[in-house]
Amino acid sequence: MRALELFCGIGGFAAAAAGRGIRVAGAIDQSPSALDVYRLNFPGHDAWQLNLENVTPEELQVFGADFWWLSPPCQPYTLRGAGRDASDPRALSFLRILDIMARMAESALPPHLALENVEGFARSETRSRLVRLLSERGYHLQECRLCPTELGVPMRRPRYYLMASRRRLDPPVLVADMPLTPLGDYLDGNGRDGGLLLAGEVVEKFGKGFRILDPMDPKAYATCFTSGYGRSLMHAGSYLRCAGGVRRFAPEEIARLLHFPEGFRFPDRMTLRKKWHLVGNSLSVVVVRKILEAFPEMNTPLPSSSVKGEPRGI
Ligand SMILES: C[S@@+](CC[C@H](N)C(=O)[O-])C[C@H]1O[C@@H](n2cnc3c(N)ncnc32)[C@H](O)[C@@H]1O
Repeated sequence: MRALELFCGIGGFAAAAAGRGIRVAGAIDQSPSALDVYRLNFPGHDAWQLNLENVTPEELQVFGADFWWLSPPCQPYTLRGAGRDASDPRALSFLRILDIMARMAESALPPHLALENVEGFARSETRSRLVRLLSERGYHLQECRLCPTELGVPMRRPRYYLMASRRRLDPPVLVADMPLTPLGDYLDGNGRDGGLLLAGEVVEKFGKGFRILDPMDPKAYATCFTSGYGRSLMHAGSYLRCAGGVRRFAPEEIARLLHFPEGFRFPDRMTLRKKWHLVGNSLSVVVVRKILEAFPEMNTPLPSSSVKGEPRGI
């Protein structure tokens, strides 16, 4: 299986594909800093810096991929955004890809593809266009909403997923009442500071509005980390109680909660804020692995004991 990772960011899909018989033949993103992280961690992958608003059919086909993974920008569909959907300029790159697919010869279309986005995408005009196009072009479709907490990860990040194949699709299978792994297992330890500590005055002034977690609480789970973590105090992610007061999560800890592999790293000179921005834009690797189970061609299921059924439909 040869995959093309579109809007690859720091390589959430590349991390999920590792060890599953999928060769990432190409990856595209327009952000130089995201690509710095991507290339550091996946040096063998052919990662291109390209604005997908101007991508050509030839550029999409040159990788000879039979699976496309797409993580297009989510701002047009977020609850807190302006909700401009297909008329948001940030939707242009994805609409360009849809336009190319609509004109592609049947034989040039990838046999399989999958897409990840925020939950609001499910109600968007852009999703209607995507589903119409894929149905007209003969794909079988599945859609679901899945959150890492449903796989036992102590972090919320509910997202919309669409799987499309010209062949059969199997629904991903979930384990019933999966217990949460303790948050502490994902942390570097309470001695850590490294610029993560919040100033006492900030905690005093705004702390009531923060979600501050006790690392020893076995039921603790973090809320969704956004690309604004470290920049916005509110609604961008949770905080941790520590010996020195209250601290932010380190970008490496967030990457671990997303299930990037141990050893995943950021370039040495990258600023903390940039790392938070990039990791907050990324995806849950463990959920993507679950989504890939829908494709029998790439199916190496994660261990599971009891079956809960399909993820909640939309
Ligand atoms: C939601 S993030 C996807 C992150 C990725 N899945 C990861 O694991 O890091 C969207 C990505 O789309 C990229 N992007 C946004 N507009 C783009 C465009 N016009 N052309 C290419 N990439 C674009 C951003 O740089 C960002 O990395």
